[in-house]
Amino acid sequence: MSFAPSIEDLRQLAQARLPRMFYDYIDSGSWTERTYQANSQRLREIGLRQRVAVNLEGRQIRSTMLGQEVAMPVALGPAGLAGIFHPDGEIHAACAAEQFGVPFALSTMSICSIEDVAAATTKPFWFQLYLLRDRGFSASLIERARAARCSALILTLDTPLLGRRYKDVRNGLSTSLQLWRPRVMMDLMSHPFWCLNMLRTSRRGFGNIIGHAPGVKDLSTLADWKNLEVDPGLSWEDIEWVMAQWGGPLVLKGLMDPRDIAQAARMGVSAVVISNHGGRQLDASPATVDVLPRAVEAARSGSPAGHDGPEVWVDSGIRSGQDVLKMLALGAQAALIGRPWLYGLAAQGRAGVERCLQIFAEDLELTMALCGGTAIRDIGPHMLVPDEHPG
Ligand SMILES: Cc1cc2nc3c(=O)[nH]c(=O)nc-3n(C[C@H](O)[C@H](O)[C@H](O)COP(=O)(O)O)c2cc1C
Repeated sequence: MSFAPSIEDLRQLAQARLPRMFYDYIDSGSWTERTYQANSQRLREIGLRQRVAVNLEGRQIRSTMLGQEVAMPVALGPAGLAGIFHPDGEIHAACAAEQFGVPFALSTMSICSIEDVAAATTKPFWFQLYLLRDRGFSASLIERARAARCSALILTLDTPLLGRRYKDVRNGLSTSLQLWRPRVMMDLMSHPFWCLNMLRTSRRGFGNIIGHAPGVKDLSTLADWKNLEVDPGLSWEDIEWVMAQWGGPLVLKGLMDPRDIAQAARMGVSAVVISNHGGRQLDASPATVDVLPRAVEAARSGSPAGHDGPEVWVDSGIRSGQDVLKMLALGAQAALIGRPWLYGLAAQGRAGVERCLQIFAEDLELTMALCGGTAIRDIGPHMLVPDEHPG
């Protein structure tokens, strides 16, 4: 196994290993990709303040998320199709997260099913729900997450309709992948290692849906199943319905506007994820780091008197422990990562996801120390260069 010192190294390995259409699916944003690029760019522009002569013995980056202790305040965010980037990908990623001591969120659109991941892990993971037009099937997904002892439900709200991703359109990537197209065949044939690897598993469809949703027996019938569409009519009342169905910790993901965050706080959800879906949905929306301080304020002010309010988490564009520290310094309690763990998975399977988490943990601890901190609670805006951050 090659040693990857940074997430960029994992990205390059993933690019070499994956058929082009699947690599493009990960490494793309919507329309002009302005938001996709801005997410990381804006984080890079924030400077850090170096401190010296601070006793740095006994450093640690442990924290909590939803009241559970975590090895660092970073979780693997939900990502559809992970089991296409590496055979049984979601199982490997969930095991890597469990071993490392951070949460793993399984997507509705995963290849391995809720039951597959539950059977392979010993600790609870999180389930991410897309509320589909078929309300009965959505309720059954919630029930299956409960049966699998998932400890939190993440409801993703920023995808009522799919943002236009030109690379996917050009590559013909949709639920009905046309394998016989010459371009697709060429792409697959030029990645024999990936093809052979995928032959080792029988999990190649959407595990939560095929064989579970009414009338969906395989990938060909899935393409005709209109009820798979996320419900574009989803309202705050529907979110209350999900809350009541689930009854456990509910996380709302994909909030950017302070009005929406205040509303979520009023409803008493457990956490909100400030996210623009990694720049894959509304292009030209701001970088998440730029909306974070106002989001934190909205979560606090929206909460009923006497309540702590939801935890504020953030994702999109986070590529290092330094980025995590900047988000924490601006008020986030934790960060989610998407592409970084997918690059690790595509590059080296479970070992690649573990390597990704190591890179984040080492970077976070080292950066915190060079800024004069020895624990997560020491991180704050005083570690950032004034005038270079939105706070
Ligand atoms: C390939 C890919 C698939 C994704 N699938 C989902 C999904 O099924 N559900 C979801 O809530 N978010 C999904 N996301 C968004 C991620 O959860 C997360 O918000 C985003 O990737 C964070 O940005 P980053 O990739 O820059 O870290 C996906 C992202 C990528 C890159």
